[in-house]
Amino acid sequence: MGVGAEVVGLTKSFNGGRPVWSDVTFTIPAGDITVLLGPSGTGKSVFLKTLIGLLRPDTGKVYIDNQDITSMGDRDLYAMRQRCGVLFQDGALFGSMNLYDNIAFPLREHTRKPEREIRRIVMELMDLVGLSGDDDKLPAEISGGMRKRAGLARALVMNPELILCDEPDSGLDPVRTAHLSKLIAELNAETGATFLIVTHDINTARTLPDHIGMLYLRELIAFGSRDDILASEEPVVKQFLNAALDGPIGMSEERDAVDPIPHEFGAAQ
Ligand SMILES: Nc1ncnc2c1ncn2[C@@H]1O[C@H](COP(=O)(O)OP(=O)(O)OP(=O)(O)O)[C@@H](O)[C@H]1O
Ligand SMILES: [Mg+2]
Repeated sequence: MGVGAEVVGLTKSFNGGRPVWSDVTFTIPAGDITVLLGPSGTGKSVFLKTLIGLLRPDTGKVYIDNQDITSMGDRDLYAMRQRCGVLFQDGALFGSMNLYDNIAFPLREHTRKPEREIRRIVMELMDLVGLSGDDDKLPAEISGGMRKRAGLARALVMNPELILCDEPDSGLDPVRTAHLSKLIAELNAETGATFLIVTHDINTARTLPDHIGMLYLRELIAFGSRDDILASEEPVVKQFLNAALDGPIGMSEERDAVDPIPHEFGAAQ
């Protein structure tokens, strides 16, 4: 079964600089799929890392399964992280290990399962993500999409209750993106695990999640049920979900912040 997470008043900056985002508060409901959207650079990856305690927030709390991970000691945090599966944006595979060993790594590191059982689990997952027969390949020898799928298999190997996926579909072609979306929906239905997925794929956002949140200009500007967010009249949300040129979002976040007048493509200067 999945566990929920709750973030309350979360603020994160680096080295005393301006916060990447501040006062972020929302609940990631247990057993559901939530998608987090936001233009590039709005701190989605930083958010995922903060959520599982890889980065410490300046202020605010993160509760996973009702336990405050921001005030946990290293040992408890380590135990909590084992209940979470993470697919990092870059896949984060070990370059010197073949795919089989990469996917088996968490099981060898954190469990006492015999190799025979590890083999069964790894082979099943490789089959699930369409990598059967690629066990001997090194990360550098496969395509970006295959690396994503290997990263997903590794994220799933410990039977996690909360699964965070940072752009699982970037670098995938539209058909594979649709397959991946379907795979996530099936995993969610089968295991009941909670998913939080960062994606730029509008089709995925429109079809996969139960809930949608959006980060923009250092804040969580929207969070709600998929239907509510898809019907939102909020200009930023609307522009993003329609991939429209007209609207508050321009090419650079910094410019959007100082020049909040809607950019009109092709308009006279
Ligand atoms: N370890 C770090 N130290 C300092 N600044 C960081 C660090 N990690 C991220 N940042 C900064 O935080 C901001 C948000 O980065 P982040 O990678 O979370 O964006 P993102 O929304 O995931 O973007 P994208 O969609 O392009 O992946 C950026 O300005 C980045 O430079
Ligand atoms: Mg990112």
